[in-house]
Amino acid sequence: MYNFIQKFHSGWAYLALLLLVLAVVNSVIGMTSKKEFTAKDRKIALFALIATHIQLVVGLILYFISEVGMKAFSTEGAMKIPELRLTMLEHPLTNIIAITLITIGWSKHKKGATNESKFKSITLFYGLGLVLILIRIPWKLWL
Ligand code: HEM
Repeated sequence: MYNFIQKFHSGWAYLALLLLVLAVVNSVIGMTSKKEFTAKDRKIALFALIATHIQLVVGLILYFISEVGMKAFSTEGAMKIPELRLTMLEHPLTNIIAITLITIGWSKHKKGATNESKFKSITLFYGLGLVLILIRIPWKLWL
């Protein structure tokens, strides 16, 4: 069970990040070139939202079954070990905040009255979410 969830979380991260980068780049282009916000733009943003939400659910399950997740809190001095602090606290917390921002961006774009405001919401919130995710990925474990 642990192996499957861990491998899934590790592999799905590529797809989630790829779609997130695509959504941000697409909305920056749309915003700067003052394009119309079409069904294609909506789909790109929606797929990125879904992919990050799936990663969140799998990440939460992983958090409760991994030795370097919640269980690590019972290890003496765990907070002083940077690698452990990353997987037991920083990575999960930062990613939950990031995915919350992405979700806010999605609902704000829906309320946006103009093409520009829709692209702006995606650029700002998805962009911020992407940065937060990237600064707290356990790169050493992953690559
Ligand atoms: C878009 C959001 C996320 C991305 C891109 C992401 C990506 C990753 C990556 C690349 C790894 C390293 C995998 C490996 O060892 O090959 C990892 C590990 C981990 N992630 Fe996430 N993650 C995300 C969200 C979350 C969330 C929300 C949680 C928990 C609430 C979480 C919990 C964990 C845990 C506990 C590990 C360490 C697992 C282990 O090695 O046993 N992740 N994550």
